[in-house]
Amino acid sequence: MKTSAVLIGYMGAGKSTVARALATKSGAKLLDTDELLTERFGMSISRFFELQGEEAFRERETALLKELSEQGFSGILSTGGGMPLREANRALLKKLGHVFYLKATPQVIAGRLWGHKGRPLLEGVKDKEELTERIGSMLKVREEAYLAAADTVLDTDDNDLARVLEQISHIVSLAEFS
Ligand code: S3P
Repeated sequence: MKTSAVLIGYMGAGKSTVARALATKSGAKLLDTDELLTERFGMSISRFFELQGEEAFRERETALLKELSEQGFSGILSTGGGMPLREANRALLKKLGHVFYLKATPQVIAGRLWGHKGRPLLEGVKDKEELTERIGSMLKVREEAYLAAADTVLDTDDNDLARVLEQISHIVSLAEFS
């Protein structure tokens, strides 16, 4: 049984919420790649995208995963929504722990993200319908990478946090569950 849980999935799929709840429940160490990178950049992810672009961000994501893997990270890792897009990252994520793909439909994700700022790839949409379409087309492109990276797929459409925690706790042995 693995002792680390890695959460992947599109923006708004619930990675941060599930990661925080898991950490509270288990006492296991929690790291969030977006938070770590924001600290390192000394600026928001949106600002980093503006100044250096997406490719530079992806390079930094890969470097961070390598670092965590070399350090022998153990605990809960929540990742940015684009992390599984690179093949090298998918291999690193699997090495780090059991990979859970938190999956939700574009409609549900749009409902959760509408009105929230700070996601450079979703900027400039005029209404919720356009946001749903943008998410839908990005998900079509990304789905294959998410599935290739995942060990287990967990649906979060119904917002049932307790069920998701329960499912994860049957698969990984975090502090309290062991
Ligand atoms: C991204 C998702 C974001 C963040 C960046 C790019 C993506 O993370 O890493 O804006 O490509 O899906 P969250 O999934 O935590 O919002």
